[in-house]
Amino acid sequence: MIFQNLLTKIENGIFTITVNRPDKLNALNKLTVQEIGQAISHVKENAEVQGIIITGSGTKGFVAGADISEFIGLTPEQGKAMAQAGQDIFKSIENCSKPVVAGVNGFALGGGCELAMACHLRVASENAKFGQPEVNLGLIAGYGGTQRLIQYIGKTKAMELHLTGDVITADQALELGLVNYVTTQDQLLPKCIEILEKIKTKSPKAVEGAIIAMNAFFSHGVDGFKTEVNEFEKCFSSADFKEGASAFLEKRKPNFSQK
Ligand code: COA
Repeated sequence: MIFQNLLTKIENGIFTITVNRPDKLNALNKLTVQEIGQAISHVKENAEVQGIIITGSGTKGFVAGADISEFIGLTPEQGKAMAQAGQDIFKSIENCSKPVVAGVNGFALGGGCELAMACHLRVASENAKFGQPEVNLGLIAGYGGTQRLIQYIGKTKAMELHLTGDVITADQALELGLVNYVTTQDQLLPKCIEILEKIKTKSPKAVEGAIIAMNAFFSHGVDGFKTEVNEFEKCFSSADFKEGASAFLEKRKPNFSQK
């Protein structure tokens, strides 16, 4: 697939999406958000893809937010539609059956922090910065930031970051539980790949079930415990489960299916 604002590549079953507007610190204009949605729905159907990395071009910005220049002149209805469209695409990342890791290589502000939070896991380079500074623009987060930051770091600090617009360092993000690892800039993508390589050795069916069941905890009106039981049942009916259990008993490595 050819995109205007994304670079994509597939290597060893890992699909990397690089947001590529470095002169704007990879700010998300409407087209870029749409292209991320297209890339995700494309790889969901691609059996060759076993894991996804989302990162930004250059070493300064992951994504410095929604493109503020596109806000000017929007009517409230257009603003609402923009937030809804972004939320839908970010939910498609969160609900992707294949693991998605954000390689946060610099500023992850506003929509950039929200994009990283929509991914299943986050690795940050030492220079990365996180924040929801929309309040400085007279706005609030619109791509799920008020909902997901609370999930990761709790209400006390989420409230502080959203209300003050404060920006935090990668180490602070690690301490708060917003990111999984902090690395040097050089080691950022290798670390993302290492994590996905490890997940690749597991049953894709089980990985998908775990994602669905954990996401259910945060879905209003969905009984997460019931979802877990249902996904557990699905695993039991899978060839991967038979293979995984047999391999353990036979003291050998499992040979899981490719999805
Ligand atoms: N939307 C549109 N353009 C953006 C942008 C955004 N969210 N973030 C950065 N850019 C652009 C700048 O306008 C500038 O473009 P120009 O060279 O054509 O003027 C370019 O990216 C580089 O940014 P600059 O501000 O010069 O870099 P800096 O190192 O001085 O500051 C930031 C970096 C991230 C602190 C600063 O760009 C910033 O505050 N960005 C907005 C963050 C934000 O509020 N995000 C939430 C949006 S809802």
